[in-house]
Amino acid sequence: MSADDHSPGSPARPYDQGAWWRDAVVYQVYPRSFADANGDGEGDLPGVLARLGHLADLGVDAIWLSPFYPSPLADGGYDVADYCDVDPRYGTLADFDALVAAAAAKNIKVIVDIVPNHCSAEHPWFRAALAAGPGSPERERFVFRDEPNNWQSVFGGPAWTQVPDEQWYLHLFDSGQPDWNWRHPDVVAMFERVLRFWLDRGVAGFRIDVANMLFKQEGLPDVVPGSQGGPLSPGHAAVPYEHQPELLDLYRSWRKILDSYSGDRGAAPVCTVAEMWFGHPDQARPYLKGDGLAQLFGFGLMPTPWSAEEFRTVIDTSHRLARETGGSIPWVLGNHDVPRMVTRFGVDQDLVRAPTPEVLLGRMDVDAELGARRARAAALLLLALPGGAYIYQGDELGLPEHLAIPDEARQDPMFERTLRTFMGRDGCRVPLPWSGATPPYGFGAGRTWLPQPEDWAALTVAAQRDDPGSTLNLYRTALAIRREHPALGDGDLTWLDAPAGVLALARDPGFTLMVNFGAEPVPLAWHHDVLLASGPLDGDLLPPDTGVWLS
Ligand code: NOJ
Repeated sequence: MSADDHSPGSPARPYDQGAWWRDAVVYQVYPRSFADANGDGEGDLPGVLARLGHLADLGVDAIWLSPFYPSPLADGGYDVADYCDVDPRYGTLADFDALVAAAAAKNIKVIVDIVPNHCSAEHPWFRAALAAGPGSPERERFVFRDEPNNWQSVFGGPAWTQVPDEQWYLHLFDSGQPDWNWRHPDVVAMFERVLRFWLDRGVAGFRIDVANMLFKQEGLPDVVPGSQGGPLSPGHAAVPYEHQPELLDLYRSWRKILDSYSGDRGAAPVCTVAEMWFGHPDQARPYLKGDGLAQLFGFGLMPTPWSAEEFRTVIDTSHRLARETGGSIPWVLGNHDVPRMVTRFGVDQDLVRAPTPEVLLGRMDVDAELGARRARAAALLLLALPGGAYIYQGDELGLPEHLAIPDEARQDPMFERTLRTFMGRDGCRVPLPWSGATPPYGFGAGRTWLPQPEDWAALTVAAQRDDPGSTLNLYRTALAIRREHPALGDGDLTWLDAPAGVLALARDPGFTLMVNFGAEPVPLAWHHDVLLASGPLDGDLLPPDTGVWLS
């Protein structure tokens, strides 16, 4: 990619030279569930190191590690008690350093997760704030008030909790996750130290948790009732704790720190990828045009039902926005917050458009075979679109959502905070199956922290490794082709005429993607060769729920 790739008028940012992330395929590691080296039923960093071969064989450019910091796990580690250490359950800082070095030796970069909106209620500064009492400087670092406003937690229930001296503190997520006061200089300075701490250890980037929320509007005005969203209703109207103008300056100041670690030092520039659901492109545009954030996740495909028209609308919106701003919006089909795509695509698609109370509890019919076929086709779509892509661990194995976790085993705070009306996000966080015919499928030695389904024997890495038709090998082949093919990665796309229910797009030079979302086979577009198909073709026909790469 060169600076010329920007649309006319869009600014060239200082880090654009060598912006490796514009093409990169990044694999999300959820450390607690990736691989367990010490056999305690929870994943750990030595586990990731031991399984780097899986990631190198897959052919990803980088891994993003979800939080592994000391944490009481009120929200799976997104409640950080110490930003500059490794939780003993995941290992040590020496294990982290060893992982970064071993990954670098395999040409894999490491991105870490930074959680700046809130910390853990166990963070020493929050404990000090509780101890110091109302009116103290310690409380100023958080958002304490004598009276709460009407804000609701994204996880359900009020966003305020009262402490024994009767003040209330703000937590936009769980009560174990007090929000920082980003107007306080100590908070700003502390996070600069945190960035430098991990940069000094050689990280290639930061994924920024809830990057749109850090600043709250002065005076904390009430929200208009009914305007609040959350993971279940992304894309809601503007609220006074999102997209405050100060964020742009903050990310610009972070960018200066990040750039001081590349440039003259000869290192690749450092990526920042922002977790930011945007309902309307106008919300995203200032960040993409600004010189702070490198990437905003393109989440639009995740809530999109299996429909050619609806996929095309999302792709067009994101791609146009990226071209117009010169920004990078990598594609995402799964992460640790949403039901896995095999299950999403395997249900009546009207339930994806408008989930019923039964769906929120995982009580619906799922055609797992259909969902798996569609998820394979979607993978070919993901990896053929212009720009970078993120793959969530286990999607390369075609894992479905685990819908049958017993209530008493659930860990996600959303389950209780929604008064058990939403099953929560545990079903996509189940420990990965590596080998064997029964749980724990090579993940540790005994009980896993979340139970695994009994019917995953055919989905393990070992079972798929030598099967040329497996989902794992589909991903491997797709990534290998992507690395070599000059049309793939960053760039542009041209839509081709196609029958209703079919997406067909061309990328220069000489590459065509077709995905059949419809119910009837359709003729393949003009082509010389079939590079890769997500399922068996029927002569020159592309069957339903199948994708193909042509040249
Ligand atoms: C987004 C993370 O992806 C999610 O898992 C977490 O619960 C919230 N942010 C709060 O940190």
